[in-house]
Amino acid sequence: MAGKVMQKAEELAEKYDTPLYVTDGDRMIANYKRIFGTFSERLPTRVYYACKANANLAILHLLYREGSYADTVSIGEIFSCLKAGFPPEKIMFTGTNVRNDELIYLVNAGVLINIDSISELVRLSKISAEPKLSFRVNPEIGAGHHEKVVTGKRTSKFGVPLNQIEGAVRKAIDYGFDVVGLHCHIGSGILESGPFLKVVDRMCDLAESLESSTGVEFEFIDIGGGFGVPYKRDEVALDIENLAQEISDRFRGKILAIEPGRYIVADSTLLLTRVNTIKETPEKTFIGADAGFNTLIRPAMYGSYHRIMPVKGEGKKKRRYDIVGPLCESGDVFAEDRELPEVKEGDLLAILDVGAYGFSMSSNYNSRLKPAEVMIKNGKDYLVREREKFEDLIKNQLVPEELPK
Ligand code: LLP
Repeated sequence: MAGKVMQKAEELAEKYDTPLYVTDGDRMIANYKRIFGTFSERLPTRVYYACKANANLAILHLLYREGSYADTVSIGEIFSCLKAGFPPEKIMFTGTNVRNDELIYLVNAGVLINIDSISELVRLSKISAEPKLSFRVNPEIGAGHHEKVVTGKRTSKFGVPLNQIEGAVRKAIDYGFDVVGLHCHIGSGILESGPFLKVVDRMCDLAESLESSTGVEFEFIDIGGGFGVPYKRDEVALDIENLAQEISDRFRGKILAIEPGRYIVADSTLLLTRVNTIKETPEKTFIGADAGFNTLIRPAMYGSYHRIMPVKGEGKKKRRYDIVGPLCESGDVFAEDRELPEVKEGDLLAILDVGAYGFSMSSNYNSRLKPAEVMIKNGKDYLVREREKFEDLIKNQLVPEELPK
């Protein structure tokens, strides 16, 4: 993808300014088709796109058109998915610590509710027993690229604990709910098949034992997302064909649901940022760019590695740089001691593989404006999110009349 967008990068940066997220819509769809196709040719499969990775309406719309379902974690995400065209029946809500007014919204919206705690089930039963339910269980298997994104281990806050799940399902049946699925999510950014296979075994065994002890009949087992992508040149991609084959060998008579976010969008998008300052210091040379951790927080938050390259770097001699943003925090660093072709002020840099948890985790820290987003589709570029304006920074703020004038 990078090559195609890199050719247009200078033109796009001129036209839309920087920092700028640029998504290759064709690449994103190819990723969706690859993961859906690989699993669905082996067993009945539903792909719930985890829209927390990137909830841009144009992206949601394209995925809905391809036949995707949507995995949502907030009513804001449900709102966006409905706007993008998803019918409520194709939306699953997997919230944690859900409020009562949110439960009312879910019931009215008619989405599938994935229950995270017995408290949530009891409170929902007082509102309505109409909605279809699935249960998120804590599978006591965790994995992920960083401690902060491991969700399935025993001490994690997510899901109904394994030792309470049978009681929870019984309670739901007593309330009159139609329990249609069993769900878990072990973590994010997983590049080996081992943890997925372990969790498939655990979930299949658990489904079988719950079916025989409670009489419930699950339509689907959802093993969540977490399918990793390589960010470094030497990382080996997850072998999705092999994984799908091994999963289908273990899976018994249910629909498999998966919730990929990163896999579908990560490598579809790059971030263009303009170099405004080169600072030589006794220790290091800093490249000062106009994007910071307000624009892309993954390096600062998880120490994540993203490839970075000057848009016009060919043939230039290499130097070592720290690549930093404009925020007033020393943690505002994209890369340390990174070798790059020599960079000058005014040059354009591309930060790669930022389609997942890039824009969606951006903020207004330091009162900086959120960037624009562009999508390339069939060779044409479309603005899919306007750059914020200063008015956006203050639009919800009030200075009370009674404060001293
Ligand atoms: N399903 C559930 C219930 C989830 O919590 C998540 C991600 C996914 C699916 C999608 O996972 P994926 O396929 O994208 O790995 N901000 C972090 C990632 C946090 C993921 C949170 N949950 C990052 O930038 O690496």
